[in-house]
Amino acid sequence: MIKSADNSDIIHAIARDCLGLDGPLMEALVRINQRFGYVPKEAQAIVAEVLNVSQADVAGVTGFYSDFRSAPPGRTIVQLCRAEACQAAGVASVVTEVEAALGCAFGETRGDGAVTLEDAYCFGNCALAPAAMVDGQLIGRVEAKTITALVKP
Ligand code: FES
Repeated sequence: MIKSADNSDIIHAIARDCLGLDGPLMEALVRINQRFGYVPKEAQAIVAEVLNVSQADVAGVTGFYSDFRSAPPGRTIVQLCRAEACQAAGVASVVTEVEAALGCAFGETRGDGAVTLEDAYCFGNCALAPAAMVDGQLIGRVEAKTITALVKP
Protein backbone atom coordinates (compact mmCIF):
# COMPACT_ATOMS: atom_id res chain seq x y z
CA MET A 1 0.00 0.00 0.00
CA ILE A 2 1.23 3.47 -0.81
CA LYS A 3 1.22 5.26 2.52
CA SER A 4 2.34 8.73 1.67
CA ALA A 5 1.74 11.51 -0.78
CA ASP A 6 5.48 11.35 -1.51
CA ASN A 7 5.12 7.83 -2.91
CA SER A 8 2.17 8.90 -4.99
CA ASP A 9 4.25 11.77 -6.34
CA ILE A 10 7.11 9.38 -7.14
CA ILE A 11 4.78 7.07 -9.04
CA HIS A 12 3.28 9.98 -10.96
CA ALA A 13 6.80 11.12 -11.88
CA ILE A 14 7.85 7.63 -12.97
CA ALA A 15 4.79 7.28 -15.18
CA ARG A 16 5.23 10.74 -16.68
CA ASP A 17 8.90 9.95 -17.46
CA CYS A 18 7.72 6.95 -19.49
CA LEU A 19 5.36 8.93 -21.70
CA GLY A 20 6.71 8.91 -25.23
CA LEU A 21 8.79 5.77 -24.76
CA ASP A 22 8.13 2.63 -26.75
CA GLY A 23 6.14 0.36 -24.46
CA PRO A 24 5.58 2.96 -21.73
CA LEU A 25 3.31 0.73 -19.67
CA MET A 26 5.87 -2.04 -19.26
CA GLU A 27 8.66 0.48 -18.61
CA ALA A 28 6.65 2.29 -15.95
CA LEU A 29 5.76 -0.94 -14.17
CA VAL A 30 9.36 -2.16 -14.24
CA ARG A 31 10.57 1.12 -12.76
CA ILE A 32 7.89 1.10 -10.04
CA ASN A 33 8.66 -2.54 -9.19
CA GLN A 34 12.36 -1.67 -8.92
CA ARG A 35 11.67 1.40 -6.78
CA PHE A 36 9.24 -0.17 -4.30
CA GLY A 37 9.95 -3.90 -4.67
CA TYR A 38 6.39 -4.42 -5.86
CA VAL A 39 3.62 -2.70 -7.80
CA PRO A 40 1.07 -1.39 -5.31
CA LYS A 41 -2.55 -1.58 -6.43
CA GLU A 42 -2.83 2.19 -6.04
CA ALA A 43 0.08 2.58 -8.43
CA GLN A 44 -1.86 0.76 -11.10
CA ALA A 45 -4.55 3.44 -11.06
CA ILE A 46 -1.97 6.23 -11.28
CA VAL A 47 -0.15 4.57 -14.17
CA ALA A 48 -3.42 4.00 -16.02
CA GLU A 49 -4.39 7.64 -15.59
CA VAL A 50 -1.03 9.09 -16.64
CA LEU A 51 -0.53 6.77 -19.61
CA ASN A 52 -4.19 6.97 -20.62
CA VAL A 53 -4.73 3.23 -20.62
CA SER A 54 -7.39 1.24 -18.81
CA GLN A 55 -6.83 -0.12 -15.31
CA ALA A 56 -7.71 -3.53 -16.80
CA ASP A 57 -4.72 -3.21 -19.16
CA VAL A 58 -2.42 -2.39 -16.26
CA ALA A 59 -3.81 -5.20 -14.12
CA GLY A 60 -3.44 -7.61 -17.03
CA VAL A 61 0.25 -6.85 -17.47
CA THR A 62 1.06 -6.91 -13.77
CA GLY A 63 -0.81 -10.17 -13.34
CA PHE A 64 0.85 -11.84 -16.33
CA TYR A 65 4.48 -11.28 -15.34
CA SER A 66 5.45 -12.94 -12.08
CA ASP A 67 8.30 -10.46 -11.58
CA PHE A 68 5.68 -7.82 -10.75
CA ARG A 69 4.87 -8.49 -7.11
CA SER A 70 1.56 -7.32 -5.67
CA ALA A 71 2.86 -7.05 -2.10
CA PRO A 72 6.15 -5.97 -0.52
CA PRO A 73 8.72 -8.78 -0.59
CA GLY A 74 10.72 -10.03 2.36
CA ARG A 75 14.17 -8.66 3.20
CA THR A 76 15.69 -11.68 1.44
CA ILE A 77 14.21 -12.95 -1.82
CA VAL A 78 14.88 -16.61 -2.60
CA GLN A 79 13.97 -17.94 -6.03
CA LEU A 80 14.40 -21.63 -6.68
CA CYS A 81 14.22 -23.07 -10.18
CA ARG A 82 11.49 -25.65 -10.65
CA ALA A 83 12.07 -26.34 -14.37
CA GLU A 84 13.01 -29.67 -15.89
CA ALA A 85 16.79 -29.84 -15.36
CA CYS A 86 16.46 -28.74 -11.76
CA GLN A 87 13.64 -31.20 -11.17
CA ALA A 88 15.88 -33.97 -12.51
CA ALA A 89 18.64 -32.80 -10.17
CA GLY A 90 16.42 -33.11 -7.11
CA VAL A 91 15.08 -29.62 -6.47
CA ALA A 92 12.00 -31.09 -4.79
CA SER A 93 14.04 -32.17 -1.77
CA VAL A 94 15.69 -28.74 -1.60
CA VAL A 95 12.22 -27.15 -1.57
CA THR A 96 11.09 -29.39 1.27
CA GLU A 97 14.20 -28.69 3.34
CA VAL A 98 14.12 -24.92 2.75
CA GLU A 99 10.44 -24.67 3.66
CA ALA A 100 11.00 -26.67 6.85
CA ALA A 101 14.10 -24.71 7.86
CA LEU A 102 12.61 -21.28 7.21
CA GLY A 103 9.03 -21.95 8.29
CA CYS A 104 7.65 -20.54 5.08
CA ALA A 105 6.17 -22.05 1.93
CA PHE A 106 7.18 -21.20 -1.62
CA GLY A 107 4.88 -18.53 -3.01
CA GLU A 108 4.76 -16.77 0.36
CA THR A 109 6.52 -14.19 2.49
CA ARG A 110 7.24 -15.21 6.08
CA GLY A 111 5.17 -13.38 8.67
CA ASP A 112 8.15 -11.50 10.10
CA GLY A 113 9.07 -10.19 6.65
CA ALA A 114 12.48 -11.87 6.69
CA VAL A 115 12.14 -13.89 3.51
CA THR A 116 10.07 -14.39 0.39
CA LEU A 117 10.25 -17.78 -1.32
CA GLU A 118 9.43 -17.80 -5.03
CA ASP A 119 9.36 -20.43 -7.74
CA ALA A 120 11.33 -19.66 -10.89
CA TYR A 121 11.57 -21.39 -14.24
CA CYS A 122 15.10 -21.66 -15.54
CA PHE A 123 17.95 -19.25 -14.89
CA GLY A 124 19.94 -20.67 -17.81
CA ASN A 125 22.14 -22.43 -15.28
CA CYS A 126 20.85 -25.91 -16.06
CA ALA A 127 24.33 -27.50 -16.17
CA LEU A 128 24.68 -26.63 -12.49
CA ALA A 129 21.21 -27.71 -11.42
CA PRO A 130 19.53 -27.34 -9.07
CA ALA A 131 19.83 -23.57 -9.30
CA ALA A 132 18.68 -20.75 -7.08
CA MET A 133 18.80 -16.98 -7.04
CA VAL A 134 19.14 -15.29 -3.66
CA ASP A 135 18.82 -11.51 -3.79
CA GLY A 136 20.01 -11.59 -7.39
CA GLN A 137 22.97 -13.91 -6.72
CA LEU A 138 22.88 -17.02 -8.90
CA ILE A 139 23.83 -20.23 -7.10
CA GLY A 140 24.40 -23.58 -8.81
CA ARG A 141 24.22 -27.05 -7.30
CA VAL A 142 22.40 -25.39 -4.47
CA GLU A 143 21.70 -27.06 -1.16
CA ALA A 144 19.12 -25.97 1.37
CA LYS A 145 21.80 -25.02 3.92
CA THR A 146 23.35 -22.63 1.38
CA ILE A 147 20.04 -20.85 0.96
CA THR A 148 19.16 -20.65 4.64
CA ALA A 149 22.60 -19.26 5.47
CA LEU A 150 21.95 -16.32 3.12
CA VAL A 151 18.64 -15.28 4.67
CA LYS A 152 18.97 -11.99 6.50
CA PRO A 153 17.63 -12.00 10.07
S1 FES B 1 16.17 -25.79 -15.48
FE1 FES B 1 16.85 -24.87 -13.64
S2 FES B 1 18.34 -23.42 -14.29
FE2 FES B 1 17.56 -24.27 -16.13
